[in-house]
Amino acid sequence: MSGTLRDRSVDDLTEDEARAELDALGQELLQHDEAYHGQDAPLISDADYDHLKRRNLALEARFPHLKLADSASDRVGARPQEKFEKVQHAVPMLSLDNAFDDEDVAEFDQRIRRFLGLDADADLAFTAEPKIDGLSASLRYEKGVLTVAATRGDGAVGENITANIRTISSIPQTLSGSDIPDVVEVRGEVYMAHEDFAALNDRMLAHGGKVFANPRNAAAGSLRQLNPDITASRPLQFFAYAWGDMSAMPSETQAGMVACLAEWGFTVNPYLQRCGAVGDVLAVYRSIEADRAVLGYDIDGVVYKVDRLDYQARLGFVSRSPRWAIAHKFPAEKATTILDGIDIQVGRTGALTPVAKLRPVTVGGVVVSNATLHNEDYVRGVGSNGESIREGKDLRVGDTVTIQRAGDVIPQIVDVDLSKRADDAEAFVFPDACPACGSHAIRDVNEATGKVDAVKRCSGGLICPAQAVERLKHFVARNAFDIEGLGARQVEAFYRDGLIMNPADIFTLRDRDARSLKRLKDREGWGPKSAGNLFDAIDERRSIDLNRFIFALGIRHIGETNAKTLARTYGSFDMLRDALVAAHDPESEAWADLVATDGIGDIVARAAVEFFSEVHNLAIVDALAEQVTPLPLETVSDSSPVAGKIVVFTGKLEQMSRDEAKAMAERLGAKVAGSVSKKTDILVAGPGAGSKLKKAQDSGVQVIDENGWFALIEGEQ
Ligand code: IVH
Repeated sequence: MSGTLRDRSVDDLTEDEARAELDALGQELLQHDEAYHGQDAPLISDADYDHLKRRNLALEARFPHLKLADSASDRVGARPQEKFEKVQHAVPMLSLDNAFDDEDVAEFDQRIRRFLGLDADADLAFTAEPKIDGLSASLRYEKGVLTVAATRGDGAVGENITANIRTISSIPQTLSGSDIPDVVEVRGEVYMAHEDFAALNDRMLAHGGKVFANPRNAAAGSLRQLNPDITASRPLQFFAYAWGDMSAMPSETQAGMVACLAEWGFTVNPYLQRCGAVGDVLAVYRSIEADRAVLGYDIDGVVYKVDRLDYQARLGFVSRSPRWAIAHKFPAEKATTILDGIDIQVGRTGALTPVAKLRPVTVGGVVVSNATLHNEDYVRGVGSNGESIREGKDLRVGDTVTIQRAGDVIPQIVDVDLSKRADDAEAFVFPDACPACGSHAIRDVNEATGKVDAVKRCSGGLICPAQAVERLKHFVARNAFDIEGLGARQVEAFYRDGLIMNPADIFTLRDRDARSLKRLKDREGWGPKSAGNLFDAIDERRSIDLNRFIFALGIRHIGETNAKTLARTYGSFDMLRDALVAAHDPESEAWADLVATDGIGDIVARAAVEFFSEVHNLAIVDALAEQVTPLPLETVSDSSPVAGKIVVFTGKLEQMSRDEAKAMAERLGAKVAGSVSKKTDILVAGPGAGSKLKKAQDSGVQVIDENGWFALIEGEQ
């Protein structure tokens, strides 16, 4: 690459400089395209080539009038990428909580009022708009020019789909209007209209290709094409409805912001309405529901959002959903079919789960052939929690059943037609032995409640191959170690062949393979390149965020959120391990600290401690820790004056609700505890504070009042 020019930001170039660079880049790219396509002999790596192309695009975006007539950006047959690059979202992309009926919506309103300390008659306005059934994308504009577009991914990190997004005609390459903030991140939904979906499937069929199950899958498949030319041939559309990183906010309300998005050149949904009070949102819901069939695209509910943005900021979010928004879902779609059989699957924690094998049937555009049956009680129709599913009818093979499917949720059986049951249909007998290892399957008695657990579990533990394999699959899953080239299928095969029996084995695979007579590269389905890639992908995960490491262990009840909480609380793997081992003693301080951790309840705490008190689990974890370095989680904000501090709130708070206080402290990186201990750093005491205040004073903990709290965190919110 020639030139100092290219090291400079596109924003800093003069027009003359940009013209010179575009000319040079044009020639260079032409040469590379010829070498690659014409002679099959690339001169540079794919990554370097992509870099040149992106630079070219960025220059063209800033100086559209300088774009060459034969620009490489428009050339068909661009070099396909191997995979998408990762993009870290500056502001996480959240998901939405659901409401299923009017009551849930009323509770949503009440919850918000409680949190904000608003009376029942205080003004609280909402917006209501369709929930588009597509895929969300985040589009970043700098100085009005589209620079990066990304998928949602796991909410924190998405995939770079800029080239594909540029092919969607309703997405502006440059924003129109005046007073556009320097940084604008627009978020919204990429979707495919019904008509376009039908035409696309016709085309696919005509070419002997596979058809898509529904418009959403078609949109997803089209957007995640490595070759943007294919995306360009797919009729995708985009509704803008939210934003991420913004250098300035042009409005103080949700409705105002959406109006700005429209002014800047985005398509916004015409059904969006501002409602003065929660009572009005239901009318919008019904009218959108009534129009659902004629909209021309799939929607699966109506989203309500608090209109005032200052309220949104105060409300913040819980786990991965904002407190200020909710998706009011449409009722699930139903269909009738035959129950052909009941299979028993064994999960990673040994749970025996019955699965309905259904005669394939289409529900809401998707072919369904399995449905979850949860547990033994559910199949018998006698719910241990008193749930009135199927009104107590037991399920028998051969039954005619009604199934329902809501969104991405696993389909469920909701009714049995007893009038169609054969006279000789036999009740299903749930096995007493694990189908994978033959060990006894037992239903535990919950120590805390004395109730019999609804779930039957295999008692085989480590000897049960199903559990071991499921644990390994969980270990390499996307939200856990996410090792490229090592998916469920490979894990099963490696386990069967005795190559990977526990997580640590993954990381010794390369060394063992080098000494082995039967090399991986010689195995069926593998070659030198794929084997090498796998070893490299494994090596890439030799350091991993502590929260993912914890999640990957597959401890019961420890999902992503709890794993994050534990990672944040203990900071390092060694601290976590030592604390959880010590917490085995219920009298210990370690146990008291663990249960005092916000978000960690009794059940989770017990599960964590139980896991770490099993010798064989410790052996597995320690072997793994020898191979892998867990990296401490970055705290939300380590610059705030309360970051890392343990704070307790007590007494009556007057300027914020208790929930808001807690959420605020956590946002600033503090940990909120329920009781005062030696470890407490700050006690925020309102009027009427009692024993906690006394204990804090006795043990020399810093005590402040609500005003003192606001003074302390001033400027941080
Ligand atoms: S707002 C902070 N509005 O639904 C909240 N989401 O279930 C951000 N979606 O990931 C989302 N239509 O992909 C919002 N009008 C709408 C939406 C919408 C569809 C999707 C979006 C989100 C998912 C959450």
